[in-house]
Amino acid sequence: MRIGLIGAGKIGQLRARTLREHRDTQLAAVYDLNADLASKAAAGSGAVVAKSLEAFFDVPLDAVVISTPVHVHDAACLTAFARGLHVLLEKPTSNTAAGAKKLVDAALAAKRAFGVGFNLRYYPAFRCVRETIQSGRLGKLDHLRVYGGHEGLPKFAHEWEYKAPISGGGAMWDVGIHMSDLARHYLGEISEVYGVATESVWNVPGSEDNALALFRSPAGVTAAYQATWTEWKGYGIFVEAYGDKGMVRGAYAPMSNLLVLQEKAGAPRTTTKLRYPWIQLREKCFSWQTTALQSFREELDDFLLLCKGRRDLVIADGYAGQRACEVAEAVRECSRTRAVVKLPVLGTMPA
Ligand SMILES: NC(=O)c1ccc[n+]([C@@H]2O[C@H](COP(=O)([O-])OP(=O)(O)OC[C@H]3O[C@@H](n4cnc5c(N)ncnc54)[C@H](O)[C@@H]3O)[C@@H](O)[C@H]2O)c1
Repeated sequence: MRIGLIGAGKIGQLRARTLREHRDTQLAAVYDLNADLASKAAAGSGAVVAKSLEAFFDVPLDAVVISTPVHVHDAACLTAFARGLHVLLEKPTSNTAAGAKKLVDAALAAKRAFGVGFNLRYYPAFRCVRETIQSGRLGKLDHLRVYGGHEGLPKFAHEWEYKAPISGGGAMWDVGIHMSDLARHYLGEISEVYGVATESVWNVPGSEDNALALFRSPAGVTAAYQATWTEWKGYGIFVEAYGDKGMVRGAYAPMSNLLVLQEKAGAPRTTTKLRYPWIQLREKCFSWQTTALQSFREELDDFLLLCKGRRDLVIADGYAGQRACEVAEAVRECSRTRAVVKLPVLGTMPA
């Protein structure tokens, strides 16, 4: 597939590498406002380094990968669908739920694949959680705990990353957007939201530094969620799933799993710990980016299958992108009204 890349910053450079290296893709064009970064991403691939978005879309393409800041996702994404191209778009897909839905509507109208970069789904610890739930080893799934946090504003290099309304909001639109997606990935759907968002630590108007919420699936399974910019211990994310026969925890960083199983009440419990030493060694030698890169490789494999019409995949689709934005808005709305927000079931986008 001939794939173009828009946005060649920190994430775009990793995306470019996956496109250059994959046996079934050709990096055909790159566009970034910063021409040096575009050239760096294209190096050695023969890709056209476009001088404008118009020139980029003049190159014959089958699909585009978009890794620009969120407030400029729309223009590139809508143009791509209007031109009949498949799209893999970074998270969050938009800085409003309405904007996210507009992108989904454009994909549906164009009948093109819409993949979303919720790459944590591919991290081994979080895959393990999903596979354990699906295996039935936990028994009947009762509830989840999902958590994502870091120390907040010192983490950011640009205002678009944290200033609402450019960013969409605060912790829920940043690290939290991955966690609400993982909750939906495990629950199947999030159809009710209740929560509280506060912005009393960093005092960025409209950008919550903490959000505590409860989500429910249509089957009544609950997830307790926190997204925070006041995690003074530093970056960390985890998910835990509890059933009537045990629990599984997936965490990063470092990558790890804990599995506790009890076949029957009163029976002895078994505990299994996974530490992924090769990932920890690789990150120590070559940085966390190696783990992100591996997840982008696996996500690209899935994206190619998504473009061929497969839907039984790990990759997030446009509905996942839309629901994650809706959930973030719902928590803020609930924080004002103190009323549960109900959301319709979206499911999976059609082939
Ligand atoms: N999946 C993940 O784990 C993950 C992690 C970090 C960031 N992201 C997402 O990836 C995207 C990019 O983040 P980043 O950290 O690489 O940011 P970045 O600032 O490093 O890179 C953004 C690039 O986009 C370019 N750009 C800006 N406006 C443009 C426009 N109108 N047209 C073309 N290029 C433009 C900039 O010049 C820059 O090179 C964002 O949507 C962000 O939320 C995803």
